[in-house]
Amino acid sequence: MALDIRSIKGTQDILPADSHKWQYLEQAFLSHASLYGFQEIRIPTFEDRRLFIRSVGDTTDVVQKEMYTFTDQGGRELALRPEGTAGINRAVIESGLIHGPMPLKLCYTTSCFRAEKPQAGRFREFHQLGMEVFGAQSPSADAELISFVDSFLAQLGLTGISLEINSIGCPTCRKQYHDALKAYFAARKEQLCETCLGRLDKNPMRILDCKNPACGELAAEAPVVLDYLCPDCRSHFEGLCRRLDSLQISYTVNPRIVRGLDYYNRTVFEFISGDIGAQSTICGGGRYDGLIQSLGGPDQPALGFAMGMERLLMVMEAQQVSIPERPPCDLYLASMGEEASLRAMTLAADLRGEGFIAESDLIGRSLKAQMKYADKIGAAFTMVLGEEELQSGQASLRNMATGETVTVPLDSDEIARQLYNRDLQDLTSGLDLSQLMGMMSE
Ligand code: HAM
Repeated sequence: MALDIRSIKGTQDILPADSHKWQYLEQAFLSHASLYGFQEIRIPTFEDRRLFIRSVGDTTDVVQKEMYTFTDQGGRELALRPEGTAGINRAVIESGLIHGPMPLKLCYTTSCFRAEKPQAGRFREFHQLGMEVFGAQSPSADAELISFVDSFLAQLGLTGISLEINSIGCPTCRKQYHDALKAYFAARKEQLCETCLGRLDKNPMRILDCKNPACGELAAEAPVVLDYLCPDCRSHFEGLCRRLDSLQISYTVNPRIVRGLDYYNRTVFEFISGDIGAQSTICGGGRYDGLIQSLGGPDQPALGFAMGMERLLMVMEAQQVSIPERPPCDLYLASMGEEASLRAMTLAADLRGEGFIAESDLIGRSLKAQMKYADKIGAAFTMVLGEEELQSGQASLRNMATGETVTVPLDSDEIARQLYNRDLQDLTSGLDLSQLMGMMSE
């Protein structure tokens, strides 16, 4: 029977041929984050639907059109997280972390769900690498987050990514700006889509990021919020620009960036790549000083960003950035007969204890079939164990790339030493530093 139940449109399987890229990206992100003093947080995949309505905003595309919502067996109205910020804000209030030492610096790798129209770089399940900082009012925090992304992208080896920044003010300056926007769009009402007509009174700024092309054309000529900033917001924005200048991070001020989520105030920013087509924003973020309080927490400023992993990987592929890949198998131990099979198994277990990828036969295949398998999985070395090897207590270790063989005692330490002595370059590509140091100290 043919497979008649297939994956859902907009989702993807990450198969073994690609999973090392994801691991690499996540590990690179988490270790770079730790250099800046960030600690990882993990939150649930689904939450009370009201959390997103209250934080992301009930007039946003995300809440109005894209959220996966469902009622559970207990009649609770839930939603799959469309992003990480709302859940993390809830978690820091609920856990009391928000009352601890400030700034609180958290990072995360997470899946998100949005029922958007799938296209290149736009998925219904996608993954974010993100950071949130709580308790920091100064533009130094904004600059540090931007500088993190800038240096992380450079560390990955990516080039040609531009940074665009803007300030969307605070509730004080926003009021005047809303009035100006309302007047502008009200005069062009007949060109707005149905959803934006509803936004006109409630939240005219949301019209600016509507995906409808007609609304987009109008938005391009609309008043910009930078012209309406109050003195405090202006000085915060200037403070950010000064810091970016002194960090030598290039940026463009783009007064049209408003971001598609309601919680933002003051700084908003995006990193954009020219290499991946229309869905070119690889990172979006900004400040959201009122969110913690609006969810029932103390008055604490906050800010953050998230990078789309799928889009980052697309840029890496487009720019042919190499991703280190550990050989799938350091040593395949083939065996003939019950005794040899047991010995192969125990040697493999001991070698794994020393950090090597070791495999032995699990199927009871013929020697020929085992060697074929070792070749298929790309084993760097093979060793055959039979009666003769068990009796002599030694076997030959074959380098599959060069065909060279060397006789080694059947002892995991001796085999490990031989494996370690081979070309350091390809052996160490996947080992972490602690494993390496451990081996070198032997
Ligand atoms: P966002 O701009 O909605 O912001 O998403 C952040 C990044 O996630 C985007 O720049 C993009 O790379 C990726 N992304 C978004 N939607 C999709 C999709 N459908 N398919 C593939 N990738 C996608 C947020 O989510 C905020 N929570 C960021 C933030 C954190 N702001 C403050 N703290």
